[in-house]
Amino acid sequence: MSKTIIVSNRLPVKITEKEGEYVLNPSEGGLATGLGSIYRQGYNIWIGWPGVDVNEAAQVQIKEQLGTMNLMPVYLTQDEINNYYEGFSNEVLWPVFHYMSVYARYEQVYWDYYYQVNTKFRDAVLEVAAPGDVIWIHDYQLLLLPGMIRAAAPDVAIGYFQHIPFPSFELFRLIPWRVELLEGMLGADLLGFHTFDDSHHFLNAVTRLLPLNATANVVTVNDRAVVAETFPMGIDNSKFELLSQDPEVLKQVESLRENFHGTHMVLSIDRLDYSKGIIQRLQAFELFLQLYPEYIEKVVLYMIVVPSRDTVAQYKELREAIDMLAGGINARFRTLNWHPINYFYRSFPVETLSALYSFADVGLVTPMRDGMNLVSKEYVASRKDSDGVLILSEMAGASKELIDALIVNPNNIGAIARGIHEALNMPEGEQRRRMKQMQQIVSKFNISHWVKLFMARLQEVKQLQQSMLAR
Ligand code: G6P
Repeated sequence: MSKTIIVSNRLPVKITEKEGEYVLNPSEGGLATGLGSIYRQGYNIWIGWPGVDVNEAAQVQIKEQLGTMNLMPVYLTQDEINNYYEGFSNEVLWPVFHYMSVYARYEQVYWDYYYQVNTKFRDAVLEVAAPGDVIWIHDYQLLLLPGMIRAAAPDVAIGYFQHIPFPSFELFRLIPWRVELLEGMLGADLLGFHTFDDSHHFLNAVTRLLPLNATANVVTVNDRAVVAETFPMGIDNSKFELLSQDPEVLKQVESLRENFHGTHMVLSIDRLDYSKGIIQRLQAFELFLQLYPEYIEKVVLYMIVVPSRDTVAQYKELREAIDMLAGGINARFRTLNWHPINYFYRSFPVETLSALYSFADVGLVTPMRDGMNLVSKEYVASRKDSDGVLILSEMAGASKELIDALIVNPNNIGAIARGIHEALNMPEGEQRRRMKQMQQIVSKFNISHWVKLFMARLQEVKQLQQSMLAR
């Protein structure tokens, strides 16, 4: 019987050490939840990096524990972490794909390790793969993997989904290894992107850089049809709907209500990343206070920044810049009883996030560039009374679906400041009309719908290939 193999850079698990024993907790991310229905069944398996740096004995022990959860580890050495993960993935692909190519460092050694680690993942996949299996590879850390698996095991079905944007050809062409990257991706049968523009940019790069043609969204590679399509990713909406009714969450909402009595809350939640537009968002909030001083003591920006990739130089610098700016705004505007920004550099349990989503009058989500942005959808799903206003960047994939948000250009500080004012003054009827429309979309196109659609389409593409061969 054929099985499904999921592959991503990170495994969906958090590993901590307690008195010499390793404790494995499944992670709560959307992808982990969505794919849970697949990888936990039968002989299906999820392959990835467990994110820990431990000695060999511990590696064996953790591997056994992971095996009971249908997870299989690929361990990375420190050099691999430095050059494949921090280097090529996060200092070449991440900045270029997010249109911040000035941050990219095209080091040969990064590429060498990227290639090497993709081979390591290939070997792990080949250890378990059999003809007829379905392999679903996730994200930019593994762009070469589809091609590597195809070369070694032509009889498998390979899907690839990219969770970050695919940039316009003019950006993509900057990468010295652009041809190898595209050839790697084309090893897949089905390539999925969040938006139409992303898949279009990918197809455009293929036809400009390779001696291949595309008919609509199909590229023929060695007599094999490869399809590129749009699959906007959803969230586990019912999890957030249920959480917003949970007694523990309701208790937290009540205490927020007491603490912020008479004060509006504007909520901002991101991973620390220069693609998220955090500096511009702070500047916009500062401008808002300048333009509308009647809101002094009447509004707070509740800003959660979740630590991420803190060994990469740009992330460290960004953290310092945020600290300075948030501190400066607080020093400038605070009064004896109030300070405008509540800034946290840490992560929070999902119950606290749910309480904040439920309580905040405004969700402020203004990335410079974002593949999808699930925070915007989580805010929408958590609004049990269907009130509240979402301000959303037009550069987030989600803006193509959540068209009833207040859509802003994240570089337009004035427009964000005016957007905050508009949101705080929006009549309740309009808030509900907009929010209900967005809730319908978030609930219908949820994560399990996304998983089913992608898997079904992969089967169809395989059938299409077989009928082409029969002709
Ligand atoms: C984004 C990427 C993921 C990545 C996640 C966290 O959502 O699309 O592939 O796993 O960020 O980043 P990290 O570098 O910590 O895995």
